[in-house]
Amino acid sequence: MEKSVETTLLDRRSIRRYEREPISEEDLHFIREAIRNTPTSYNGQQFSVIEVSDQDIKLKLEEIVGQKQMKTSARVFIFLADYNKIAVAAKAKNLENPGFENTMDGLIVGVVDASLAMMSAIVAANSRGLGTCPIGYARTADPAAISRLLNLPQGVFVVCALAVGVPREIPDLKPKQSEDLLIFPDSYGTEDMAGKLLDYDREFTEYHATRAGNTSDKDWIGEILGYYKEGMSYKMLDAVRAQGYGVVK
Ligand SMILES: Cc1cc2nc3c(=O)[nH]c(=O)nc-3n(C[C@H](O)[C@H](O)[C@H](O)COP(=O)(O)O)c2cc1C
Repeated sequence: MEKSVETTLLDRRSIRRYEREPISEEDLHFIREAIRNTPTSYNGQQFSVIEVSDQDIKLKLEEIVGQKQMKTSARVFIFLADYNKIAVAAKAKNLENPGFENTMDGLIVGVVDASLAMMSAIVAANSRGLGTCPIGYARTADPAAISRLLNLPQGVFVVCALAVGVPREIPDLKPKQSEDLLIFPDSYGTEDMAGKLLDYDREFTEYHATRAGNTSDKDWIGEILGYYKEGMSYKMLDAVRAQGYGVVK
């Protein structure tokens, strides 16, 4: 099943329950090719992807990360910021490597490249009727354990994982912020931002209370701040330093 670009983009939602069905080789090939053709900073391709199909590794990932999509989806793609490959290439050619990964922008570049590659995979998979769910906890839950499990060298860290598989359920689409809160004409801002955000908060709270499947009484603003509160305890600077990112400026 091939969907139009419009349906692929506007009908996408995160899928957290999967059929135990394989993905066709043709669809996998398309996803890999879409990943390969991702735009990247300098065409440096500061990313790599680990495609996990081994059920034992998926179970270990689920154990570390605590997200069940990692064992129930057919594939887990792990998107990595990667400065190992350029280090290997520079060494092979006897060229001096300035160590761009030790700068804030170098780190951002790796994260942006890996994120765009993940979006390429999301669009490709969804266009073939497959479901996807990004899994950020693959980065934050236990970076040292994930690095050991996946044998990550210096210069490489997990940006995000992506579960891909045949959907077992199609949840309701989540309401998103209105266009005027997201896309500003010519310069930053919109009139009555607070009022519009409170309108969105009400809309989202209503969606939470009435959506198919598991309803919730949480509001949007409170839920997001709750996630941030949890995120305050993550030790990502230590984690990227352990993977060889000096981040000195
Ligand atoms: C970088 C990133 C990390 C995410 N991490 C998780 C995750 O660990 N677990 C999860 O269930 N969903 C995760 N999500 C999915 C978001 O919850 C989801 O995109 C958001 O609620 C909007 O819903 P939608 O994708 O259905 O539009 C993540 C999404 C992104 C972009």
